[in-house]
Amino acid sequence: MKNIVLGVTGSIAAYKAAEITNTLTKLGYNVDVILTKGGMEFITPLTLQTLSKNRVYTDMFQLEYPREVKHISLSKKADLFVIAPATANIIGKIANGIGDDMLTSVALAMTGIPMLIAPAMNTRMYENSIVQENMEKLKKHGYQIIEPRAAMLADGELGKGALADVDRIVQAITENLQEKPK
Ligand SMILES: Cc1cc2nc3c(=O)[nH]c(=O)nc-3n(C[C@H](O)[C@H](O)[C@H](O)COP(=O)(O)O)c2cc1C
Repeated sequence: MKNIVLGVTGSIAAYKAAEITNTLTKLGYNVDVILTKGGMEFITPLTLQTLSKNRVYTDMFQLEYPREVKHISLSKKADLFVIAPATANIIGKIANGIGDDMLTSVALAMTGIPMLIAPAMNTRMYENSIVQENMEKLKKHGYQIIEPRAAMLADGELGKGALADVDRIVQAITENLQEKPK
């Protein structure tokens, strides 16, 4: 069984992570979800735990087994790493090598596998040159960006920045796992 590590961050689109988790699990993948503190404001660990049938990681310093350092073991067993939705904040942190929570620490330990980022944010944030530069930097370091859609955003504005369709995200994940079997 292929192992997917799914990062979920503090975007209004975080509820869609439930559908992503559910679909991937039903397709026969093992999904380990890492939920940021921001993400927990939008969706509960219980929802993602129930759908993934795995415990959801939220706290880097809560180690279940003394012999296992979870952010390293999660990165070692992963066949694919995806963050959906990805906030401007998480994109900035990863692009700059910051590892101040479970998700960013796991990201720092990822190597040699497909890494996907599905941004979701207001158009003003998405078009910000720093955010654009951070995404370019992530691409340079091997991340694939799953382009956001143009849509009516949560605050009523119309523009690019809405999370890509769940189907597109799932397709990008399955294609990457077929191309690069471990
Ligand atoms: C209602 C609401 C919706 C938000 N939606 C987004 C979003 O879609 N994208 C984004 O980048 N930030 C969004 N934010 C801001 C993030 O939640 C904030 O930057 C947070 O620190 C992100 O933490 P994380 O990246 O660790 O999950 C939103 C905040 C609020 C209050």
